[in-house]
Amino acid sequence: MAVQINPNMTVASVVERWPEAARLFARYGLACASCAISKSETIAQAAAGHGAGRVKMDELMTDLNRYAETGVLPEGLPPAGAAQSLGGKGVPRGMAEQKGIKHVIAVMSGKGGVGKSLVAGLLAVGLVRRGFRVGVLDGDITGPSIPRMFGVNEKPVSPDGKTLLPPRSRGGIPIMSMNLILPNEDEAVIWRGPLISGAVRQFFSDVQWGELDYLIVDLPPGTSDAPLTVMQALPVSGVVLVTTPQALATMVVTKAVRLVKQLGGDILGVVENMAYVTTPDGKRFELFGPSQGLKLVIAANAPLMGRLPIDPAIARDADDGTIESYTSPETEELTENFLKVAPLKAPEVAHTH
Ligand SMILES: Nc1ncnc2c1ncn2[C@@H]1O[C@H](COP(=O)(O)OP(=O)(O)OP(=O)(O)O)[C@@H](O)[C@H]1O
Ligand SMILES: [Mg+2]
Repeated sequence: MAVQINPNMTVASVVERWPEAARLFARYGLACASCAISKSETIAQAAAGHGAGRVKMDELMTDLNRYAETGVLPEGLPPAGAAQSLGGKGVPRGMAEQKGIKHVIAVMSGKGGVGKSLVAGLLAVGLVRRGFRVGVLDGDITGPSIPRMFGVNEKPVSPDGKTLLPPRSRGGIPIMSMNLILPNEDEAVIWRGPLISGAVRQFFSDVQWGELDYLIVDLPPGTSDAPLTVMQALPVSGVVLVTTPQALATMVVTKAVRLVKQLGGDILGVVENMAYVTTPDGKRFELFGPSQGLKLVIAANAPLMGRLPIDPAIARDADDGTIESYTSPETEELTENFLKVAPLKAPEVAHTH
């Protein structure tokens, strides 16, 4: 058999020339065969990124070359449709189902510091209160906000040396974050894209999340490569966009929307955070300017899921690791509005703990 495909070829170049190879890659756990990361990732690199040498390279290469030469694919491959994903470009959605995770929801912001992590946390808490089984994956490796707001600082343990058992919050929410693994919380981490995507993919695939209705993912801030890389590494069902009512908000949202659309993703709704403050005598002040609500809805072509006030109690609970005890009419409304557009409106996975 003539060898036409070698491990140093990029996944994308192989799939481009032999489209059905995507199905072969998927069978060997390289479900990212059709995502944009694979443009620069070789077969060998992709295999390394997908679970430390567990991909059977020899068999994969043999199958690939047999297909390239004879056009014959092995029996029992996943159907072509399974490689459909974030609109056909990203990771197969079926991958989540296989793991017992019904839906992955990514929380995104056009820029940093707008309360993205907080909204991710509050959404998880709101859903748990309504009986959903929820996990939180911190895809933002630049800061420990997720573990901190849930008061989680134990390291994940590996009972079998292969998979990781995530620590749980007081309320039982499994939480996974790079910040729990790094030796020093304050250490600045500079990671290259492929490393980030590899780590996030492993957080998804090698962590024992158990059965989940929703896995909420806190994406890195902004609309650069970092959030894009993380989104592409996961089978995302929908995106929640967080912003503040500043003049530039709609521009930032437009940019974020374009990015999500590029990936074939779906914006479920927009959250306007820090929308106002209420003084003790009940007056509302819109510190960051008037609401951009209507403009946001137009820019995102998605509903406004909520407007959260600046509330010192939020900041306090997030700092104290007690976000699970925070509640307000506005955050309850956020959860209700999320559920109106969410892919799963009632819990499917029964609570067992
Ligand atoms: N509505 C709010 N009321 C009071 N404090 C808030 C509110 N929203 C966010 N904060 C506080 O503002 C800070 C930034 O919020 P958060 O960390 O959620 O933002 P982020 O968008 O995730 O930031 P980054 O881009 O750095 O990841 C936190 O200290 C948080 O507690
Ligand atoms: Mg954050």
